[in-house]
Amino acid sequence: MDRLIVEGGEPLRGCVRAAGAKNAVLPVLAASLLTDEPLIVHGVPDLRDTATIGRILQGLGVSLTADGSTLTLQADRGGPTEAPYDLVSTMRASVCVLGPLVARRGRARVSMPGGCVFGVRPVDLHVKGLNALGADIRVAGGYLVSTVGQRLEGASIYLGTRFGSSVLATANVLMAATLARGTTRIVNAAMEPEVVQLARLLVAMGARIEGIGGPDLLVEGVERLGGAEVVIGGDRIEAGTFLIGAAMTRGDVTVEGFDPHQLSALFEILGQMGAEVEIEADGARVRADRRLDAMDVTTLPYPGFPTDLQAQVMAAMTVARGISIVTERIFPDRFMHVAELLRLGADIRKEGPQAIVAGRDGLSGATVMASDLRASAALVLAGLVAGGETEIRRVYHIDRGYERIDQRLGLLGARIRRETQPSLDPVSPDW
Ligand code: UD1
Repeated sequence: MDRLIVEGGEPLRGCVRAAGAKNAVLPVLAASLLTDEPLIVHGVPDLRDTATIGRILQGLGVSLTADGSTLTLQADRGGPTEAPYDLVSTMRASVCVLGPLVARRGRARVSMPGGCVFGVRPVDLHVKGLNALGADIRVAGGYLVSTVGQRLEGASIYLGTRFGSSVLATANVLMAATLARGTTRIVNAAMEPEVVQLARLLVAMGARIEGIGGPDLLVEGVERLGGAEVVIGGDRIEAGTFLIGAAMTRGDVTVEGFDPHQLSALFEILGQMGAEVEIEADGARVRADRRLDAMDVTTLPYPGFPTDLQAQVMAAMTVARGISIVTERIFPDRFMHVAELLRLGADIRKEGPQAIVAGRDGLSGATVMASDLRASAALVLAGLVAGGETEIRRVYHIDRGYERIDQRLGLLGARIRRETQPSLDPVSPDW
């Protein structure tokens, strides 16, 4: 297993380009199952998660060819319908093959994605939505199984939870509805930009969808979808991570290649903490020349502050002046990073879905363990400001969603190196 060694104390300075958005590309690749014509996807990030979805799709009979960061996918109407536990359990997003499978092949056997380190993550909304379309999904042997074998029927579906909507359930139901007979109305659809990118791709494939970008999606089912070509937008979470790093190290970083309006909530917070934010046409620049001030943050569905940047902004709060409060409204247990930040000398008290962070003058390097993707990114950021060396173990988590993070932070002036040990991990890109 690889580990990252960070020597703190260097500000991040320079310019970096955002990779394609992980959360956009995964459902987009799954959409290849909806047509027998080629789907050409440009700007595919080189991540463990894209490798995993590629393996799942290959197992479902999708042919896949790569040319740099462009993938061409082609699926037959028939073919296998099982997404196995070994792959699905490494990545929750693989559940988004379920909708396309039941819509086009009439059957599916997809492993339950299971819980994850930041709490139980149910799939009830996916099941409810697809069952409303007639998929008759049941749980058997740890798998979500559908054997309906006939065309789905449009329906009106409310996709809300007490935490808002669901991104991947919206993606699943939307994909399935494009091929259902009649009209589907998805009420309380997720409005995240990654859902918008998927919906636009589906329209390019011939789907009829109204209300894209809003909470109410109206889908008029069509008989068949065709091929399309799509460019994956820049990853707002990756961009946000670099920009938080700039602010907390008193650096100056420009991230290019993403839509800065997708990060308005983050920029509002960073501005109030004392950083300077410049919105550019194709990115943003963040700089700070003093210690940041404390700030309260509440995670919310888009366009609110994203839960996927909560851990990283908490890392910034650990060295800000004053007391900050983080309230997690999407995943109330998403605080695995707190224990590891404490090892670096942070002062954080957790109370239910909140963390109270008393900013310190500095942190001190230590050995810490990455527990999940965004928590790992927070530990890297904390390592950048900690005195001495921070060793981050289990960095395979970070490789799920950040493309060559060590090399790219290195180009921004961070002193960071990767120590590689032979991989025991069964998932590796093979295209
Ligand atoms: C997606 C993102 C993830 C992000 C999350 C919230 C991908 C690949 N992942 O995950 O990075 O952190 O959105 O923005 O896009 N819920 C239910 N029942 C369900 C589904 C969800 O109760 O069937 C709840 C969840 O427990 C959570 C909330 O709804 O409290 C939102 O989760 P959801 O939007 O579904 O997250 P994902 O789509 O899995």
